[in-house]
Amino acid sequence: MSQEKINAAKAALEYVKSGMCIGLGSGSTTKEFIRLLGEKVRKGLKITCVTTSFDSRMLAIENGIFVTETDAIDEIDLAVDGADRVTKTALLKGGGGALTREKIIGYNAKKFIIIVDESKVQHGVLEGEVNLEVLPFAAPLVMRQLKKFNPKIRMAKAKLGPVISDNGSFIIDCDMKIDDPKKMESWLKSMPGIIENGIFTKFDMIIVGMEKGHRIL
Ligand code: A5P
Repeated sequence: MSQEKINAAKAALEYVKSGMCIGLGSGSTTKEFIRLLGEKVRKGLKITCVTTSFDSRMLAIENGIFVTETDAIDEIDLAVDGADRVTKTALLKGGGGALTREKIIGYNAKKFIIIVDESKVQHGVLEGEVNLEVLPFAAPLVMRQLKKFNPKIRMAKAKLGPVISDNGSFIIDCDMKIDDPKKMESWLKSMPGIIENGIFTKFDMIIVGMEKGHRIL
């Protein structure tokens, strides 16, 4: 595991206080955060967590962290999650297919912190793969609407057919260059059949882990 990811996770850990409800993101950087959080829990930290994927739920439980559901909490004090690409004002997420629950947890948290390594930082226009969670029934129609973005249904590696998300949907990956992330996020959101898109424009802080220490973007 890269030291940069560990250092980003360590910096986010500073924001965790006893009694908080923490939203746990998904992916390899968040995995480091969950591992470090588990160490603190074993030393007596009292927290409750909600998770953004079966993967982070399983990791949290393995690490001795108490996990609950969104109907059993009042509010999410802090959410910590990774990202695939970041600029100062917008992110691309969903490489692991968990974008819908990630956005639900992150956008509903009082504080939403993103942890990344330097390889994720982009300068200028946000560009790359935009991941969409789409109702299978709507997939052909959504793909037709988004034809100019080269949409592809994500195929599974250890199963025949498409990846099925934690919510029972397809993931469609598009190539986009995004001049106005907020506008693109809401345009995609308005399309019937698209459950969620991986453009994130609401967060509080991006922590970039470095070989030694971290910086705030
Ligand atoms: C999961 O769907 C993604 O949004 C991840 O948060 C994102 O891909 C970052 O993952 P890594 O930390 O593994 O790069």
